Amino acid sequence: DSVPPDPGALLAWYDRHHRRLPWRVTPVDRESHGLLPDPYRVWLSEIMLQQTTVAAVKGYFEAFTQRWPTVEALAAADEADVMKAWAGLGYYSRARNLKACAETVVAQHGGRFPAEESALLDLPGIGAYTAAAITAIAFDRKATVVDGNVERVVTRLFAIEEPMPAAKPAVKRQAATLTPDRRPGDFAQAMMDLGATICTPKKPACALCPWERSCAARAAGTQELFPVKAPK
Ligand code: ADE
Repeated sequence: DSVPPDPGALLAWYDRHHRRLPWRVTPVDRESHGLLPDPYRVWLSEIMLQQTTVAAVKGYFEAFTQRWPTVEALAAADEADVMKAWAGLGYYSRARNLKACAETVVAQHGGRFPAEESALLDLPGIGAYTAAAITAIAFDRKATVVDGNVERVVTRLFAIEEPMPAAKPAVKRQAATLTPDRRPGDFAQAMMDLGATICTPKKPACALCPWERSCAARAAGTQELFPVKAPK
């Protein structure tokens, strides 16, 4: 906690250590060549990642996007084929909403995902988390993206003692103050990668963390105690 957490330090870490994932555009392509990822691929990956690990999602994501490369293709797909392709990922309501959302994007938005969080929220199967993730990652617009990884990073950084889930609004508020105006999409993905690879639930690799000297929990040696869970 001796220096305030610098979003630029996290982005510099991400430039070197980002995970290469099939739905991503690399930081160099994003920054030097102005590329943005296809919103359809961002949406599909975020729905798949909701209750499923990155390792399990990768193969399904590749298979889906080869078979249905666009939102129009998915909207026109046979529902039974989509359900079959989803088999093994679990939480099948996600697959049913997937088709419904693709159809709505085609019918109401001309086949283009809207860039506004509020318009995204109106689509089937898209909640607050997914709307924020698409806004930030697909459109590089400022949005506060908080998943379980981000909750762990933020509760440790600020030593938020309030138990989860009551602390969710406080976590979101702190995450919002961290989000930079430049590169909000890379920042969101950097927070996820930091949580997945450095700021892990057990034995976090604090010595490798770009925010080590900004982390209140690290300063106190209490990093593994966050996020605090409400007693059952
Ligand atoms: N988990 C949820 N969304 C993710 C993303 N875009 N990259 C990596 N892990 C994620």
